[in-house]
Amino acid sequence: MQTMRAIVVEKAGAAFTLVERKIPQPGPDEILIQIEACGVCHSDLFVKEGIFPGLEYPRIPGHEVVGRVAKCGKNVKIWEKDQRVGIGWHGGHCLECEACRRGNFIHCEKAKITGIHFDGGYAEYLVAPSEAIVKIPEELNSAEAAPLLCAGVTTFNALRNSSARPGDIIAVQGIGGLGHLAIQYANKLGYEVVAISQGSKKKKLAKRLGAHHYLDSNVQQVTEELQKMGGAKIILATAPNGSAMSTLIDGLSVKGTMIVIGVAGDLIKVSPTQLITGQKSIKGWPSGDAKASEDTLYFSFLQNITPKIETYPLERASEAYQQMINNKAQFRAVLTMNES
Ligand SMILES: NC(=O)c1ccc[n+]([C@@H]2O[C@H](COP(=O)([O-])OP(=O)(O)OC[C@H]3O[C@@H](n4cnc5c(N)ncnc54)[C@H](OP(=O)(O)O)[C@@H]3O)[C@@H](O)[C@H]2O)c1
Ligand SMILES: [Zn+2]
Repeated sequence: MQTMRAIVVEKAGAAFTLVERKIPQPGPDEILIQIEACGVCHSDLFVKEGIFPGLEYPRIPGHEVVGRVAKCGKNVKIWEKDQRVGIGWHGGHCLECEACRRGNFIHCEKAKITGIHFDGGYAEYLVAPSEAIVKIPEELNSAEAAPLLCAGVTTFNALRNSSARPGDIIAVQGIGGLGHLAIQYANKLGYEVVAISQGSKKKKLAKRLGAHHYLDSNVQQVTEELQKMGGAKIILATAPNGSAMSTLIDGLSVKGTMIVIGVAGDLIKVSPTQLITGQKSIKGWPSGDAKASEDTLYFSFLQNITPKIETYPLERASEAYQQMINNKAQFRAVLTMNES
């Protein structure tokens, strides 16, 4: 029996445990990926703490996965052994429902999420549905490509589908895994970029990544500063905290939109007049499908956008996760295994 090493969460709130497991085999429409890298996303907290619908244990977390095709199921025609591929948060769809018929795969009634509804990338292998597989350009190395499959696609897709035009002010709240990529995308998409962070320690890096302005929410009145610039057309809120998002709403311009990306346990508080006066809005944004991920990878390669990463071997997954939870990762922790 061939085995692999994997990090498993046995139940809600349990520690990450390194285990030896049988290598899974792909079903007819699935592929087996030999994993080379997997990013550690803040959303892995849902698995660790047991807060997501349809989540079952034991579960291997991880949804920023890059590796090589090890085996294809018998119906899989478009992927080949050894090809470099990946999978992100969007982990498959039914191809039969109304949303799928319209190509709206992330809103599929039966959409699956990698590392939540099936085992994810904190392991040496994973089996994944072929319709969610992403081709990885040869120019990107696996560890740098991995974060683009959730942190990257979520921020790039949110921005490119927003109402902002080049020259508009985009504020990015929270300079972590998602935020530090959002700054780079916003700059390359031609916006005036404002980074908003708690403290001054990320100022140099944010500027280097392409932020034109930096606001320290610990000492500055962020909404006043944004209004002095004319207000933000878009506030990309990546902080995992509803009340932190609430404090920024008055920084929006007329017809400005807060795009909520961070997932928080507490509520966003807003009064009707805050939105009515100035026709402001708040909306959410979920990740993206395989095509959106491929667009993100290609745009990143063309525009020389790479995530800043710290790499850890699989057995140090717990430490990598703690770095991220404690806001110490610079700026995405990535697990590496089987590197070719
Ligand atoms: N919508 C989606 O599809 C999607 C996709 C991926 C992730 N997410 C969610 O997006 C959020 C960010 O993920 P990530 O991987 O980028 O996390 P991360 O690397 O931990 O970064 C989050 C950043 O938010 C700021 N922050 C943290 N706690 C805060 C607080 N209490 N108040 C204000 N700011 C705070 C920090 O930036 P500063 O130090 O600069 O303040 C931190 O670096 C998470 O909630 C995650 O679950 C959503
Ligand atoms: Zn994620």
